[in-house]
Amino acid sequence: MKHLIRGRTLSFHADPATTEHAYRYIEDGAIVVENGKILAIGGYEDLADAALPETDHRPHLILPGFIDTHLHFPQVQVIASWGAQLLDWLNIYTFPEETRFADPRHATRMAGKFLDLLLSHGTTSAVAFCSSHKASATALFTAAEARNMAMIAGKVMMDRNAPAGVLDTPQTSYDDSLALIRDWHGRGRQLYAISPRFAITSTPGQLEAAGALAREFPDCHIQTHLSENKAEIAYTLELYPQARDYLDIYETYGLLSPKTLLGHSIHLEPREIARMAETGSRAVFCPTSNLFLGSGLFDAEGLRDAGVVSGIATDIGGGTSYSMLQTLNEGYKILQLRGQKLHPFAAFHWATRGNALALGLENRIGTLDPGTDADFVILDARATPAMALRMERAETLAEELFVLQIMGDDRAVAQTYVAGKPMLTRG
Ligand code: GUN
Ligand code: ZN
Repeated sequence: MKHLIRGRTLSFHADPATTEHAYRYIEDGAIVVENGKILAIGGYEDLADAALPETDHRPHLILPGFIDTHLHFPQVQVIASWGAQLLDWLNIYTFPEETRFADPRHATRMAGKFLDLLLSHGTTSAVAFCSSHKASATALFTAAEARNMAMIAGKVMMDRNAPAGVLDTPQTSYDDSLALIRDWHGRGRQLYAISPRFAITSTPGQLEAAGALAREFPDCHIQTHLSENKAEIAYTLELYPQARDYLDIYETYGLLSPKTLLGHSIHLEPREIARMAETGSRAVFCPTSNLFLGSGLFDAEGLRDAGVVSGIATDIGGGTSYSMLQTLNEGYKILQLRGQKLHPFAAFHWATRGNALALGLENRIGTLDPGTDADFVILDARATPAMALRMERAETLAEELFVLQIMGDDRAVAQTYVAGKPMLTRG
């Protein structure tokens, strides 16, 4: 079944931060969708056909669906927990909450709500940590498959420095991850991420198990956390006294590659930045979380200049919004504090094609290229009275995008499409 979607299309084929002609914008544009994929994109007049059913989203923008490259599904009820920085926040709020995901009924209820929240915020793909319980990952993949969303997820591996209710062992974490990879990796749109939480909560034996999985399944992603907070780094280096630096721990166990997503990557040594570039490991910027937990200011430009590819992400529930628009807003402010700029074209590239590139999935998601999956977000820059008033004085596409970046949230999402299907009833 073919279907035409009409609106103002915007997508990127290069990074606006480094290339002048990086995007394609069609004022009266259209996308023809067939079997969940983009069949064609172009001007409406060129693609219109009396036989094709049409949905008209004018005057809204049609962009590739947002991609969130780092967040925690068992933290949907941890968001907005008061008064702590990373290690206390984990111990006081997060680990106890994650113990509840041992119950498959709880995990299933939360998985549905979590994915529906992503969709209402325009996010069509995400890379998620589950809890240490196998059932939590099963619940998330099952809910993602039911919505046909492309999810990358993994059960977190953690075998020390946390309450018994969230601990696994090197062997059970290996066995459960292996079973989940066999069940879910490459099934429909689902992909598996090997997910050692971070060095503090993994013994050397467990990082060895994670490294073994990484060797056995080189097309799985690997996700963990790196250098988010100064106290975290100090404690990590006490636990691994032989390591040259924090990154060296992950390298020792074979966990660095272009498939590796290193959440936060804030307080890095020059050697670490160089090794991230050499191994192709990705940094992931989590602006709302880094401000909320008082962690520090990500150096986007420094990493880019060193040749490190970065993603951008919400980090729910250290992060405070499911919205990639709000994430770009806070990202803009963090870079302001570093004397760096986040232009709206670079921002919208980052949340779409840029994050797809960070995942190595740019041939499947993150653009509006024919042959790729038909995941879209429909954005309304006049969604609130304050935005509509500001838009009276906006003359260019860049200004409109910046209004969305700074003032937008789920109210600006008029519709979200997953594999060609509209997912929101309010749109
Ligand atoms: N480091 C290890 N685990 C976590 C987590 O759940 N959230 C954040 N923000 N950092 C972490
Ligand atoms: Zn995280």
